[in-house]
Amino acid sequence: MLKNDRFLRACRRQVVDRTPVWFMRQAGRYQPEYRQIREKYTLMEICEHPDVCAEVTLLPVRQLGVDAAILFSDIMTPLRGMGLKVDIVENVGPVFEEPIVREEQVSALPPFDAEEAVPYVLETIRILVRELDVPLIGFAGAPFTLASYMVEGRPTRDYRKVKTFMYSEPRVWGQLMEKLAAMVARYLVQQVEAGCQAVQVFDSWVGNLTRADYETYVRPYMYPIIEAVRATGAPVIHFGVNTGHLLASMADLRPDVMGVDWRTDLDEAWRIIGPDFAVQGNLDPVAVFAPPEVLEAKVTDVLRRAGRRPGHIFNLGHGVMPQMSVSALQRVVELVHAYEVREV
Ligand code: CP3
Repeated sequence: MLKNDRFLRACRRQVVDRTPVWFMRQAGRYQPEYRQIREKYTLMEICEHPDVCAEVTLLPVRQLGVDAAILFSDIMTPLRGMGLKVDIVENVGPVFEEPIVREEQVSALPPFDAEEAVPYVLETIRILVRELDVPLIGFAGAPFTLASYMVEGRPTRDYRKVKTFMYSEPRVWGQLMEKLAAMVARYLVQQVEAGCQAVQVFDSWVGNLTRADYETYVRPYMYPIIEAVRATGAPVIHFGVNTGHLLASMADLRPDVMGVDWRTDLDEAWRIIGPDFAVQGNLDPVAVFAPPEVLEAKVTDVLRRAGRRPGHIFNLGHGVMPQMSVSALQRVVELVHAYEVREV
């Protein structure tokens, strides 16, 4: 049973007692307990063991007092479940044994069903909804961000291969994006059916595109994903890094919540997308390393820019870093929760 639904209320722009807060990548290497579990299991092994995975998901909820849990998984989990050979290499990221660059490889991608491909993810969700008293957020990587890893084969700085592929083979690109979009839509809906109360679609690397390229090569495939989730009634958060120039285009997808990275102030983001959205963000992650008084000023600035308007979910502008301290993140949660008490 949910004891605390302020995260879901904020997603729907309803009045809340305090601003809800959670952190992208809130489970991870900054936690001693996580590092201990990682000595025994790889990242993917954690995801494949529902009891361990549920425990890892719960760690930050108990430790930090955040208002939502996010399923512990990776954006690569469903692709591995579909049979693609991808590993998460420490301090590198996802690495594919065989990058997907030829039409035959795209045609060979199988249809996706989470019960078959990743039954352990659905089982983890079922365990978690029994244990949690805050909402559980499911998630998936968006087609462009998934494709960037699949085509490049590994993390990239310039997105040269994936963008060249997109420009030179628009027909095959379309097939790849359509297949990924169908997978992502189905996966998210199945996460909601298993018990997730909201989902976040990470298009982390889409900010590397111009607005025109985003609208031509990416956005058409995004509409059905957001539509499919909205039809379940669960709120959808849409997030990308470095997307200041894309926010208006992304808003056309009508997610319930727009995730904003730290480079765009929330008052500016809200001005760009209009009042019909909730916003999530957007403390500069590196501010967590600042002296306490500087951190407090920066947290307060984010809250002030979001204003007194319902519909703000506090988060970092990107994920938690391994070097962060548990106590600094606890302090951020306290500051966010105290702000509302002081101001009301
Ligand atoms: O937020 C959470 O607590 C849920 C966990 C989560 C992970 N990955 C676990 C993870 C989430 C939401 C993700 C999403 C993800 N994975 C994204 C989108 C979000 C974003 O950060 O923009 C992306 C781009 C990936 C791909 C990926 N996986 C990268 C770039 C890395 C970092 C590689 C490294 O070693 O620094 C990973 C590994 C990964 N995924 C870790 C965690 C906790 C690192 C810790 C580990 O290896 O144990």
